[in-house]
Amino acid sequence: MSDRFDIAAESLQTKRLRLRALTLADAASVFSYSSDPEVSRFTLWAAHASEEKARDFLAVLLHPTVLSWAICPEEDAGLIGMIFLHSLSRHHRRAEMAFNLGRSWWGRGLATEAARAAVAFGFDRLLLNRIEATCMPANSASRSVLMKAGMSSEGVLRKSHHRHDGFHDMELFGIVRGNPSER
Ligand SMILES: CC(C)(COP(=O)(O)OP(=O)(O)OC[C@H]1O[C@@H](n2cnc3c(N)ncnc32)[C@H](O)[C@@H]1OP(=O)(O)O)[C@@H](O)C(=O)NCCC(=O)NCCS
Repeated sequence: MSDRFDIAAESLQTKRLRLRALTLADAASVFSYSSDPEVSRFTLWAAHASEEKARDFLAVLLHPTVLSWAICPEEDAGLIGMIFLHSLSRHHRRAEMAFNLGRSWWGRGLATEAARAAVAFGFDRLLLNRIEATCMPANSASRSVLMKAGMSSEGVLRKSHHRHDGFHDMELFGIVRGNPSER
């Protein structure tokens, strides 16, 4: 079972982005891209068929076992994606990271920028010892983000995750606390 985070998602500033706490009021902005089947091609959730579905999704991400940020371009309060930490184990000081971005924002290094900030928050503020992530092996954009955020591929978990179209292999990525050059 996941533990609860004891601090909230603090606003984080990167070179081009502002990460702020996600809220239910973000449902319409999330729906504008989460309804795109290209975005959900490799995610465990199906494309949202209505704003209500996006709201339900957000409600899960606002539970205290998840620490979730809206990804906003610095010059604009509008949300273009989200990043979150979940599956916290206090005992093992470990959590998992996940993210998604509207399609028109892909390929500019923005997810990498957000992922680096979330990883730094996990080590510096949450004092985690390990941060992990999983993605479908065919999700080359996600694999690339995880590696650019300092994670290493640790193998494939066979048929470990289930979604609407069946069981899927998931590649496990991880980064451990310590000198970045040793990670
Ligand atoms: C995964 C995702 C967040 C990456 O966002 P992004 O801002 O484009 O990522 P970045 O630009 O930081 O880096 C992605 C890399 O993949 C490449 N890339 C971008 N879109 C791609 C695509 N559709 N197919 C293959 N590669 C792609 C980028 O050029 C970049 O390459 P590089 O490492 O050689 O520089 C985004 O594609 C997305 O939201 N996908 C749908 C949701 C999803 O799959 N989330 C992850 C679930 S595990």
